[in-house]
Amino acid sequence: MHAAVVSSFDTPPRYAEIETPIPVGEHEVLVTVIAAGLHPRVRSQADGSHYTSTDELPLVPGIDGVGRTADGRLVYFILPDTTIGAMAEQTVVDLRRSIVLEEGVDPVALAAAMNPAMSSWIALRQRIDFQRGQSVLVLGATGSAGQMAVQIAKHLGAGRVIAASRNAARLEALPALGADVTISLDGAEADVAERLASAAADVDVVLDYLWGTPTVSAMTSIVSNRTDPGRPLAWIEIGSVAGPDAVIPSAALRAARLQIVGSGQGSVSARDIRSELPALAKEISSGAYAVTVRAVPLADVEQAWNEAPSGDERIVITP
Ligand SMILES: NC(=O)c1ccc[n+]([C@@H]2O[C@H](COP(=O)([O-])OP(=O)(O)OC[C@H]3O[C@@H](n4cnc5c(N)ncnc54)[C@H](OP(=O)(O)O)[C@@H]3O)[C@@H](O)[C@H]2O)c1
Repeated sequence: MHAAVVSSFDTPPRYAEIETPIPVGEHEVLVTVIAAGLHPRVRSQADGSHYTSTDELPLVPGIDGVGRTADGRLVYFILPDTTIGAMAEQTVVDLRRSIVLEEGVDPVALAAAMNPAMSSWIALRQRIDFQRGQSVLVLGATGSAGQMAVQIAKHLGAGRVIAASRNAARLEALPALGADVTISLDGAEADVAERLASAAADVDVVLDYLWGTPTVSAMTSIVSNRTDPGRPLAWIEIGSVAGPDAVIPSAALRAARLQIVGSGQGSVSARDIRSELPALAKEISSGAYAVTVRAVPLADVEQAWNEAPSGDERIVITP
């Protein structure tokens, strides 16, 4: 069968022939893949930089997708850490990490949206005790996951959603998706800090896709400008597009009732992630959330990989 194959962490995957994998575990089945998203997580899997990387090569990238089982069921699946990923004509799926989809679901749209949507859905539902009416700041709101976060926070009952990002054009589009306020993170650090202090100082929850320096600036600004420092502030680290490390001032954790947690593979168990999939897939399939997607044939995977990643659209590989 054909697959996208990574032979070196320095070069993009190539379209190549490999042996069809064989299911071995009790719950494993062979699935014919229909669509697999090219998410940032998949790029970091393929270049060896993800925190779960074992450095084992060759590998087929792809962490989730939509496919069909031999008995005809349409499924959405998430793969464990494996060298046989979703960007192949067939892959091995543990049925305990999959859900059956209704016929008629758009497999490409679903494969595009599940990973970015899951990031905020699971963060709000599994990592904190999120209450209806609370206010949410999305830091890095213009990527695929950030745009979803704006919509999902509203859907889950946020009273006020504040969307912050450096991309002016895409920021302008966010009120139509549910953002009550937008904040530009572009410009001098002091100006950005001032904007965050005036619009987001009393926020209840931060969904953070940035990390790095922008997070340090935003956290410092918010923590030092809260009307009531005793009011709980839940800061959920989800992505790190602006840097893998952030130097958090110790005072930030003493001066306000700040709690920093992360949300992702490991901090949420596979079972808890699985438990959220049916409801999220239903929401996405109903067309509740805007998602821009471009389908690319598996044979063109190398070319798609070489394009600069963009929050404008999600590439989905279709074997
Ligand atoms: N933990 C989880 O469960 C989970 C799940 C899904 C995704 N994620 C993570 O969430 C992050 C975003 O994913 P995505 O799917 O939204 O990716 P994406 O669609 O590629 O969007 C990434 C966005 O990051 C912005 N960006 C890049 N560098 C930046 C910087 N230095 N400062 C500010 N903004 C910057 C880009 O904005 P511009 O247009 O301004 O360049 C772009 O809109 C990734 O780190 C991903 O791994 C985590």
